[in-house]
Amino acid sequence: MAGRSHLRSVKRIAILASGSGSNAQRIMEHFRGSALAEVVLVGCDQPAAGVIQRAWDQGVASYLFNGAQLRDGSVLRELQGLKVDLVVLAGFLRLIPPDLVRAFPDRILNIHPALLPKYGGKGMYGHHVHAAVIAAGEAESGITIHRVNEHYDEGTILFQATCPVLPDDTPDTLAQRIHALEHAHFPRLVQQEVARLAEG
Ligand code: GRF
Repeated sequence: MAGRSHLRSVKRIAILASGSGSNAQRIMEHFRGSALAEVVLVGCDQPAAGVIQRAWDQGVASYLFNGAQLRDGSVLRELQGLKVDLVVLAGFLRLIPPDLVRAFPDRILNIHPALLPKYGGKGMYGHHVHAAVIAAGEAESGITIHRVNEHYDEGTILFQATCPVLPDDTPDTLAQRIHALEHAHFPRLVQQEVARLAEG
């Protein structure tokens, strides 16, 4: 069956994720039936990740790959073969290799569960981030949505939102507050980037 994106004005989004995929799900739901964009693929590097089931439930194709396939150009060829316009990293833990960054200039978005440039970089993911924020005694944390370059968590920042860190927070309770912020804002920022691509 022909997808909506045979109309070339409909932008084609690929999501890459490594984990549960709650952000990926919000983005798939946001663009279901949209005239602006379609999520055409969920790529995942972890065979047991919840995001694969979420893609299945949404009727979105999934693609499982390993680190070697990310580095040897297989993932890039898959994305190019599907004529992907925008790549969205939603809890994807591997470094994006330079050939992929170059192939999608300013067309890869990432979400990070803290206020970059603090608490970013290699090893700063998931509960490691929230534990570090709490250990440092920060009064607030938040989310950062940014473009991706060849370094972890360093591309141009597009959006940040904050939330308090409460005195009795654990990494789990802070993660819940951060997730709520992510779900509220990430689909909207993806749509903003889709609109920018449609204008360009
Ligand atoms: C999010 O907190 C995101 O910021 C981080 O990984 C988490 C993914 O959560 N990079 P989910 O898999 O979307 O539920």
